[in-house]
Amino acid sequence: MNLLVTGGAGFIGSWYVRLIRRARPADSVVNLDALTYAGNMESLADLRDDAGHVFVKGDIRDTALVRTLIARHQVQAIVNFAAESHVDRSILSASPFIDTNVTGTLSLLEAARAGGVKRFLQVSTDEVYGSLGATGAFEETTPIAPRSPYSASKAAADHLVAAFHHTHGLDAVITRCSNNYGPHQFPEKLIPLMILNAFEGKPLPVYGDGLYVRDWIHVEDHCRAIDLVLRGGRAGEVYNIGAENECPNLDVVRAILRHTDRGEDLIRHVPDRPGHDRRYAMNAAKVRDELGWRPQHTFAAGLAATVDWYRSHPTWWERVRSGAYRDYYEQQYAERLRGVDPSKASPT
Ligand code: NAD
Ligand code: DAU
Repeated sequence: MNLLVTGGAGFIGSWYVRLIRRARPADSVVNLDALTYAGNMESLADLRDDAGHVFVKGDIRDTALVRTLIARHQVQAIVNFAAESHVDRSILSASPFIDTNVTGTLSLLEAARAGGVKRFLQVSTDEVYGSLGATGAFEETTPIAPRSPYSASKAAADHLVAAFHHTHGLDAVITRCSNNYGPHQFPEKLIPLMILNAFEGKPLPVYGDGLYVRDWIHVEDHCRAIDLVLRGGRAGEVYNIGAENECPNLDVVRAILRHTDRGEDLIRHVPDRPGHDRRYAMNAAKVRDELGWRPQHTFAAGLAATVDWYRSHPTWWERVRSGAYRDYYEQQYAERLRGVDPSKASPT
């Protein structure tokens, strides 16, 4: 199969491209990525000389470019990872999220339809379902109820994908996954941010009471599930992906402190994320029962290996934390560590 993978220089996309090129060498990958702050060619360094991987720097909103790529490379399937992906950034400014996550997805759908693409897979998130109480889990039939600008933009994209399937007959599937972790994750997200701060003996900023629950999955397990859905999922269907690893944020942070030989004195409870979803949990029975997917990584072993990866790859994260990242960190955390919600702080 000839695949067009978008956002393949990001965290999950780069894992997916690598998985395909290793596990399915007969499949070729065109990787379209705009290389925003989150895109990183160093995450694809091992594919530099791989003739089956063609990297194209470009924007998914450029429909003409996407149509050209589909025709030139005889693309049979599109897997759309490209997105603005960080909730905190969507609170500071929502427009880039609408531009890429909504308008960008529409552009891909139009190009897919015009180019006769056989299958479109939209990589979505459990956050479109909103927030859970103390019990229960999201099912594919749970009503969509996004609560952050990020999740609203992802939900809008999911609706467009479903609309193109129902209205235009486009063969499309949607995957919705819980929180990913693993090597190459940009250090704005909880786990790499806490690991790097712990390495450097800096405060670990825990939002609110720290009892918010996320359902963690290793990025490789997510990518294997996506690939099964791409090849065997039923057109028009949604597939939840999750590894049943619910964990309060404070427990994740404490585990990281243990792996880095640091004490709990580094933990700082800081002003909460506005609109913070309390708990996510995924029921992934459908992808397990229909497609035989099973996660292969336990959270305990996966987290320890992830800490080790960041320990042994300082050049990867030192480079991504230079420049604009410093401004972002300052904007997001300087006021917070002084007790002020950054979305309410006066502009500097
Ligand atoms: P990421 O932020 O690490 O990577 C996003 C990639 O998209 C980057 O390489 C970036 O350069 C690229 N990109 C952004 N805007 C683009 C545009 N307009 N055109 C082309 N490329 C563009 O994100 P991630 O964490 O790897 O997430 C990938 C996808 O998975 C997203 O769609 C996200 O919503 C979804 N998802 C993420 C998680 C998670 O825990 N990280 C969980 C479930 C679903
Ligand atoms: O659930 C899937 C989603 O997971 C994906 O769709 C998103 O792309 C991805 O960013 C992630 O969203 P979260 O908001 O859950 O992830 P984040 O790593 O930002 O935060 C995880 C939890 O940790 C959340 O409850 C907020 C909290 N947190 C986060 C940061 C960055 C803190 O307490 N302190 C922090 O500094």
